[in-house]
Amino acid sequence: MSDEVVSAVSGGPEPVEPTKKPSGAPKKQKLPKKQKLPKKQKLSKSAKQQSEPAAPAAPGTPVTPEARVEPAKPAAQPEQQAGPAAPAPEPVRLPPSIVINDLRAAYGRIEVLHGVNLVVPPGSVFALLGPNGAGKSTLLKVVNGRMRPTSGEVVVGDTPVGKSPTEKLVKSGLCAVPEGRGIFPNLTVRENLRIWTYRGGITMRDVEEQTFAAFPRLKERRKQMAGTLSGGEQQMLAISRALVTGPKVLLLDELSMGLAPLIVNELYELVGTLASQGMTILLVEQFVTTALAVATRAAIMVHGRIEQEGTPREMADAALSVYLA
Ligand SMILES: Nc1ncnc2c1ncn2[C@@H]1O[C@H](COP(=O)(O)OP(=O)(O)OP(=O)(O)O)[C@@H](O)[C@H]1O
Ligand SMILES: [Mg+2]
Repeated sequence: MSDEVVSAVSGGPEPVEPTKKPSGAPKKQKLPKKQKLPKKQKLSKSAKQQSEPAAPAAPGTPVTPEARVEPAKPAAQPEQQAGPAAPAPEPVRLPPSIVINDLRAAYGRIEVLHGVNLVVPPGSVFALLGPNGAGKSTLLKVVNGRMRPTSGEVVVGDTPVGKSPTEKLVKSGLCAVPEGRGIFPNLTVRENLRIWTYRGGITMRDVEEQTFAAFPRLKERRKQMAGTLSGGEQQMLAISRALVTGPKVLLLDELSMGLAPLIVNELYELVGTLASQGMTILLVEQFVTTALAVATRAAIMVHGRIEQEGTPREMADAALSVYLA
């Protein structure tokens, strides 16, 4: 294993992109002890469902970092005794997983995000749609701390991005699978996975167990160079890499890129499973129908602004008119 790889691993949340590692990142990061992520972050299904309509911030409006979540309604009792009505339970308040306030970002002098406001409720699958060049990947880069905004703020959980060390962001449970997959092509599948054990807190056995349970195909390919895997298998490896960190908030950029529909469906099934176990997922996707099938909220970004936000059904129609325009 090369020094470059090892140093990249110890540097930040995305060891697969060593050149983009934020400067000043600590050399070694400790992962929390072994995380079987889906179980660790369980939200009750009812809490998840109730959280969905909780934070529909109007596009263009700065948002407050708290989502109101109604408590579960008790199942109807067929024969209720007459008597004083039980007091209504207090609403549960869950903070949103991601709050983006009036965010601006630029490449050099060219601004590409022009004041983005977005709230991603906890336990939701939030689909960010939009035409090529709209700024979707840029937004994910800023949320992930890989790019500094020119103004505005992003808060993930209770961690302000940009003002906190990368290590803190990782510990807050944020992880990203970037556009173009982000794996080491010249290392085998096992070597790619082993990278994570260098950060401490998780053994190779755990990593393999978790990965091969989710993607048995990777077990067959464990000695193969990652660069020679099929596109779908590379994407599986990229997702595995993200999952072993036990993320609470997962950013997915173009999961479907270059993949056959069958593989895309397989990957999105996994997304659905992760979401049903309580993970918050912000995904960028070109395949509107695929994304909206798993999404609980969605928004459309055009020219660096959120144009519309709503339910997947509302956004399906809106996306059609945006893409056709
Ligand atoms: N590294 C960069 N340097 C300069 N300009 C960039 C860079 N990355 C992106 N851009 C520009 O910023 C704008 C937004 O790009 P971005 O990649 O965020 O769009 P996107 O919505 O993800 O598009 P796509 O759907 O094609 O992936 C585009 O005009 C793009 O050319
Ligand atoms: Mg993109």
